[in-house]
Parts: sequence; C-alpha cells; structure tokens
Amino acid sequence: MPSKDERREALKAVFHEARGCVKCPQLAQTRHTVVFGAGNADADLMFVGEAPGRNEDEQGLPFVGQAGKLLETLLGEIGLTRDEVFITNTLKCRPPGNRDPHPVEIERCQAYLFRQIELVEPTVICTLGNFSTKLLRGDPTGITRLHGREEVRVVGPRAVRLYPLFHPAAALYTPANVEVLRRDFARIPELLALGAPEQPRRLVEEEPEPVIEEPALAAEPEPEPVAAAQLGLF
Ligand code: URA
Repeated sequence: MPSKDERREALKAVFHEARGCVKCPQLAQTRHTVVFGAGNADADLMFVGEAPGRNEDEQGLPFVGQAGKLLETLLGEIGLTRDEVFITNTLKCRPPGNRDPHPVEIERCQAYLFRQIELVEPTVICTLGNFSTKLLRGDPTGITRLHGREEVRVVGPRAVRLYPLFHPAAALYTPANVEVLRRDFARIPELLALGAPEQPRRLVEEEPEPVIEEPALAAEPEPEPVAAAQLGLF
C-alpha cells in the first residue's frame, strides 16, 4: 500500500504528464493551460466537474469563476473549505467556446481522472452534472434523475460512495436548482461519516512480482519538478 506521500508524489507525476498532453489535437492547440485539479491530495471528498471554462483556462485552477464561487459557498455551509477537498474535471482542457466535451475527448482524458481517483483515494465522489456522472457510472442516465442519490460504485480499482449533484453552473441558470443543490450538499457530511465502503479484493497484488532482469538503459532526463503551488495542492 503506497503511503500518503508516495501517492502525492505520484499525483504530481501524473500532472507533469498531463501538462504536455496532446491526445486531443484541437484542445491542445486552443487551451492556455491544462487544468489538472487542485486541493488536498489526500482528500476524503472529491468533486468532478465537466471541463475548465475561460477563467480556469487562464488561471490553471478548476472552478474559479461564478460556478466555483457557488461551490465554495456551499462547501462553507457544510463546514469545509476548498483546500480540504480535491476538485477536478472530466476534461482537463477547455473546449473552445465552452462547447460540450466530445465523447472521444472524454475517452482520451479519462485515464487522468481514474489515476487521480486511485491516488487521492476519496471515499465520497460528487459528480457535478451529466458528463462526470455518466462517465463514472458508466451509464447514460441523466443527472435530473440521479442527483442526491448516493450509491457505492467501483471506479477503477476503488469502491467509492458516488453522489451525483447538479452542476453549479447549471444551477445558477435556475435559482430553484440552487436550493436543490444546497439540500443535496447538506447530506455530504453524513456520507463522509460513513467512511470508505468495502474495497474490492486486489487479486493481482497478491501474486508475487516476477523478477525480470532489465538490460541497462541510458538514463532518462529527470522531469522538471512540479511545484505544489502549480498543482494547487495543500
Ligand atoms: N465548470 C466546470 O465544469 N469546471 C470548471 O472547472 C469550471 C466550470
């Protein structure tokens, strides 16, 4: 089992990799920054939004615009701050003109999200809106039917309490939905108090690793260190 520090270092390495990502040629050309995610690298609570917007693309941090302000207010109402949770998105790059993410972009980007979940080890994941909800549930059911209903789901190698919520930006369009979001938020502490659900058995890990003699390779250049501030990690 990797320690907290090892998981944090591994998360920084994934960020380093994502920073140069060109898997989606259009997004790689139009983005200013890769918005990897921010917050506590060992958070119990993770939020997964849709994709960075203009402000996020400029600042390199998720949820820093109007939707982010609402998210922060609602977090405050349940006694939490941004730096206690981990916030990320389904896509790490801004789609031009804030268009919807394309299915192929979600597919290309999903490995980063699954690695983040594996390394942060949240017990509760709040999906914000349709895109992250559909991706992490692996099912096309929409957020209107699912919001506020928690379920235990295996996401990558981990079982988590998945808790779909309305996207704060969508809620801002419909004031009544801000109240729905607020009510759904109010149940988060209760879900956190339940702790982690029972984890699936990791059969592969129980096999002893075969020892393979590697031929000597020329040393790879060391990657540039990633400063914690760039990650927005605490
Ligand atoms: N909307 C999102 O889904 N993510 C952000 O980071 C900002 C707005």
